[in-house]
Amino acid sequence: MKAFETISWKNLKKHFESIRNKNILSYFKDDNRLNDFAFEFANIYFDFSKHRWDKKMLRLFSDFARDMKTRQAIEDMFSGKIINLTEKRAVLHTALRQQNDEAVFVSGRNVIQDIRKSEAQIKNFTGKVISGEWKGISGKRITDVVNIGIGGSDLGPKMVVKALTNYRNHLKMHFLSNIDPFKLDALINKINLETTLFVIVSKSFSTQETLTNAKKIQEIYLDKFGKTAIAKHFVTVSTQIEKARKFGINPDNIFPMWDWVGGRYSLWSPAGISIPLAIGYEKYQLLKAGAYAMDNHFRNEKFEKNLPAIAAFLTLLYNNLYGYETEAYIPYADKLQFLPDFLQQLIMESNGKSVDLSGQAVNWQTGNIVWGNTGTNAQHSFFQLLHQGTKIIPVNFIAERQNKNTRFKENHKILLANMIAQSEALMIGDRNEITYKNFEGNRPSTTILLDEITPESLGSLLAYYEHKTFTEAWLWQINAFDQFGVELGKRLANRILEDFEQSTHHHDSSTQTLIRKISK
Ligand code: F6P
Repeated sequence: MKAFETISWKNLKKHFESIRNKNILSYFKDDNRLNDFAFEFANIYFDFSKHRWDKKMLRLFSDFARDMKTRQAIEDMFSGKIINLTEKRAVLHTALRQQNDEAVFVSGRNVIQDIRKSEAQIKNFTGKVISGEWKGISGKRITDVVNIGIGGSDLGPKMVVKALTNYRNHLKMHFLSNIDPFKLDALINKINLETTLFVIVSKSFSTQETLTNAKKIQEIYLDKFGKTAIAKHFVTVSTQIEKARKFGINPDNIFPMWDWVGGRYSLWSPAGISIPLAIGYEKYQLLKAGAYAMDNHFRNEKFEKNLPAIAAFLTLLYNNLYGYETEAYIPYADKLQFLPDFLQQLIMESNGKSVDLSGQAVNWQTGNIVWGNTGTNAQHSFFQLLHQGTKIIPVNFIAERQNKNTRFKENHKILLANMIAQSEALMIGDRNEITYKNFEGNRPSTTILLDEITPESLGSLLAYYEHKTFTEAWLWQINAFDQFGVELGKRLANRILEDFEQSTHHHDSSTQTLIRKISK
């Protein structure tokens, strides 16, 4: 189905031409803007009103989504159909947070039973580590946990653990992702090997960075404490049980995951094990419950009021009609420091595709560029460009209304005043005859205000972004769930590694010279 050849898209485009030069501010005079564009969802306030669109545009996008049979696509995902066509896999991160036991089948197997079994295993293990029942090689309780993983096996858990700082227990959490030895050296110098637990997270159990880092650490343990230390200090999460076993992991310390959960969607699966270690299993369940609430909203709410769908419509509005190529994510909450990194992988690895679901080259723009940093820091670095640059960048502001855990309430107020001021300034601008002092305004933004960052509200927020990504992909008719674009670099890196030792492969002169400079 060619999305942009449908009548509904043509209608939408026609209406777009009639509003494209309108100023956002004018909409606030014409109608009761917030009635149509502001929503409360379980203690989270979503404001989509400061955008370059009107009510009719939202309706036409909803018609377009209906025309594209988006409802059916959503059901196909939730019910375990093989929607990742290139890898012939179901996509069931939603089953991982399902709060009831209704069966979900993949190739005739009820995955909910597998999930419940795995949850019991995770609950038992994390409980033992937190309580101190799990002991290291010298009989001491665990004080530090190191998550060794990269991409989806790092970004989600790291982001959540930081976001839920206020819910953390005594365990010190570390995340080792890069192969750069700088990080590994620093980590080894910092921790006490006798009281540290390593969690190797690799869905494929073939990721060079993760396995190399894990191997180096394992060697240190073998050298210092002998073989018996491995079972006390290393556990792993993977779909590849046999590979993990061969790597030397005790079979009892292997937490299986499944090929129907994608890496960047895996924080809900055993790959997110650092989260229950850091905050306890019960609170991890609340994170899932929050996501489940958003799942139900996405599955059932009509598109005009469907939060992930509305967010996806906005991306199409800017990406495919106005021609804005990037979107910024600016959390005004240091606890959400890693949210932009997480969203970069979620959105760009999912939707950076240029063939459609039938394998044909697309002739429309797909995944846009996602970037960002925390406010107010960002105001003092790149906001100049957002306000007066030639490029227009829709901004997503995210914050928590109250911060109960601080003594410095005034700081929190200043933080939020700044965020609101930025969204207002982007929209209203400031006319000035002196050209360099002039602000054009009319620059769009979304504001999401969580009452508080709790496991539940964070869960809902993350599911909102996942479903936004899915909806965009569906409307663009691309597969959000594969990532073949990362493979070529991995293959070439292995060849280059060989060429450092002995030059056997042919390269262009630039590449050849770089290899020579490093190998000499
Ligand atoms: O190279 C990209 C990628 O495959 C991501 O999709 C994934 O999240 C990451 O690498 C890590 O993969 P794994 O969990 O298999 O080690």
